[in-house]
Amino acid sequence: MAFVKFRALFYLIFLVASQAFGASYQLFSEPGVRARGYSGILQNLQPNDQIVFSNERRFTVYRVLGEGGNTLVLDIGDGKALRLNTRPSNYKQFSLSWYVEGYSKLKDSGIPIVKVFLEESLPSEYLVVEKIPVEFTLDQVLVEGFQSPYKTETLYEALLDFAMTTERYAGIGDLKPAQIGWDGKKWILLDWGKTVVQKKWYLEGFAFLDMKYFEKLPEEFRVLVHSRLVALRRERCISNLRFWKWNGKGGHGMNEYREKSREQPRVILESPRLTSN
Ligand SMILES: Nc1ncnc2c1ncn2[C@@H]1O[C@H](COP(=O)(O)OP(=O)(O)OP(=O)(O)O)[C@@H](O)[C@H]1O
Ligand SMILES: [Mg+2]
Repeated sequence: MAFVKFRALFYLIFLVASQAFGASYQLFSEPGVRARGYSGILQNLQPNDQIVFSNERRFTVYRVLGEGGNTLVLDIGDGKALRLNTRPSNYKQFSLSWYVEGYSKLKDSGIPIVKVFLEESLPSEYLVVEKIPVEFTLDQVLVEGFQSPYKTETLYEALLDFAMTTERYAGIGDLKPAQIGWDGKKWILLDWGKTVVQKKWYLEGFAFLDMKYFEKLPEEFRVLVHSRLVALRRERCISNLRFWKWNGKGGHGMNEYREKSREQPRVILESPRLTSN
């Protein structure tokens, strides 16, 4: 009887200990080479599990923060999150290195985006990023009809601020409402592609207006965003014109001057474009 009790106690201690310390999983056997069962391990991760990479770096999993079509995002404590690729290893699209490539183009853009801690990351295996207290995404509000506790005006005013920060871009890879999260105060870009096209000429399109599902926004809001963006573009054109002087010669310099001068009236005459296609 005493033996049975001892055994039960032993199992209990083992159970509590395994809950508290979690299991440990080697995710990459060699640099960039996934360990066998990689996908299964990711699917079954539990709080307190440890994941280990080929460089011996070890992270404790606090919880799963989210999952998209390509990435698993884990809370690793200390205000940080880990991005892991969930696609088959031969699938190169939307890889972690694409995220890094896009980050290098967007980090100083003024667009609120997730910080990537490059010096702590190993892009062939994982990225350490800033953890955002995402309450919901724009997609949930626009497409899924999610009722947030915030006033609609608050969300739209903040979205207008977000839109303005994208003004100088003609294109931002994979920009769609599911990539824009609400952190309680502002909209923040959580995910992006590697292609980021900065406008060369002021008349090129606006990345934000071309966003997939832009047409789901209320019409008044779309008109407002459009007119504010155009006004901002006009301001930039005018202030830029001051710096353009004809250099007194023909050829390339003069053509450029004429090219720039022509932009202003066209901006004023342009009619609002309300839909994304
Ligand atoms: N830095 C972060 N902090 C907290 N939660 C995050 C963070 N990044 C992403 N998430 C959560 O994880 C979810 C999926 O992230 P993400 O869009 O980056 O995945 P993905 O697989 O790359 O997406 P896609 O399917 O668009 O390619 C987000 O909707 C969000 O809820
Ligand atoms: Mg995404």
